[in-house]
Amino acid sequence: MTKPLDGIKIIDFTHVQAGPACTQMLAWFGADVIKVERPGAGDVTRSQLRDIPNVDALYFTMLNSNKRSLTLDTKKPEGKEVLERLVRESDVLVENFGPGALDRMGFSWERLKELNPKMIVASVKGFSDGHHYDDLKVYENVAQCAGGAASTTGFWDGPPTISAAALGDSNTGMHLAIGILTALIGRAKTGKGQKVAVSMQDSVLNLCRVKLRDQQRLERVGYLEEYPQYPHGTFSDVVPRGGNAGGGGQPGWVLKCKGWETDPNAYIYFTVQGHAWEPICRALGKPEWINDPAYMTAEARQPHIFEIFATIEAWLADKTKFEAVDILRKFDIPCAPVLTMKELADDPSLRASGTIVEVPHKERGTYLTVGSPIKFSELKPEVTASPLLGEHTEDVLAGLGYTKQQIFNLREVKAV
Ligand code: COA
Repeated sequence: MTKPLDGIKIIDFTHVQAGPACTQMLAWFGADVIKVERPGAGDVTRSQLRDIPNVDALYFTMLNSNKRSLTLDTKKPEGKEVLERLVRESDVLVENFGPGALDRMGFSWERLKELNPKMIVASVKGFSDGHHYDDLKVYENVAQCAGGAASTTGFWDGPPTISAAALGDSNTGMHLAIGILTALIGRAKTGKGQKVAVSMQDSVLNLCRVKLRDQQRLERVGYLEEYPQYPHGTFSDVVPRGGNAGGGGQPGWVLKCKGWETDPNAYIYFTVQGHAWEPICRALGKPEWINDPAYMTAEARQPHIFEIFATIEAWLADKTKFEAVDILRKFDIPCAPVLTMKELADDPSLRASGTIVEVPHKERGTYLTVGSPIKFSELKPEVTASPLLGEHTEDVLAGLGYTKQQIFNLREVKAV
């Protein structure tokens, strides 16, 4: 089957998570992604958090599937020459080095454009160009703090909190993938490449857009009615942490189910959707609440929303999280069990849809990973193993026209 990105050649000069997540997705969709790595070491995630000695860590294998690996020391003249040839033949170069690293290597945007005017150069940095912090190196949690997620996540009586979701890393990679695809469509019209830059701070803030909404509402009216602080607590002049509150127009909370005393994940998320109030009352066996003025409107319910949640928890006390959701789904109530990584890994629906996939790997045997979360009618992205360090060096060099002797010479000077 031909894939939409067949024929697109990508130099994957990325490491850790933000860049690799982007290029991995493009590889699933058919691009030829050549991961350029430092000889002898490679991407630092190959050796970080290893679970099997001397075998590529899951951190690496789960972010670098479907790629080829070329080792190249791009600080040596011989390595630079190989990279120049590769640039002339490629469509996209993706990088997420620290600020200025690509320029110091001699591959500024101007130089890359000179080598290949059709080249799309895509970068992830912690902060955008010209930002007063644009010299900073940034990892995931730094970005979550800088992008507004940490100050608005957690409980009001605790410190700013980091989300387990990779809002700074993979999320930025997804933004970059959209940027690259947009630039490719643009190039098809103009024949010209361009620079695509995404900052981790901006990508986090983009996902925290509703909190900027709340900041403006708070400044106008002095309170936020969907937050647990309303109406009994106090608000300052900044958006507070709202615990597990809904965040939109529908109040919700994480509620205890049977077994919560011993199982830290025996919970469901329950949403009190306004127009579903009647089915909620019926599901809970509380028909008297349907027309009770103290309960019948969202406004009336809000002052005692935690008393309502406590009543729901009493109803949940003899039901597991799965039993509860099976009952509530019949009443069209938006809810879900709080699922653990173990439950997700074993979920037959996720296996069937290709969201959780098993991948055979030359050295580690089979491992689990998350496959494409995007489903197409005409494409079934297949996940293949991540490459070993330098596994495709010879292939890639031969494809660039290097002879066996020249490849040997490059090896002698440790440029590949
Ligand atoms: N051959 C020779 N040198 C290479 C190379 C290769 N194949 N690949 C990388 N290098 C060099 C770079 O030229 C650079 O050298 P220099 O600093 O002497 O100019 C160095 O290796 C890499 O530097 P850097 O990217 O700054 O690595 P780091 O480990 O110090 O920092 C990050 C890691 C992630 C903090 C940093 O890369 C960063 O802030 N990136 C941008 C934001 C980002 O993506 N964050 C991580 C998200 S998961």
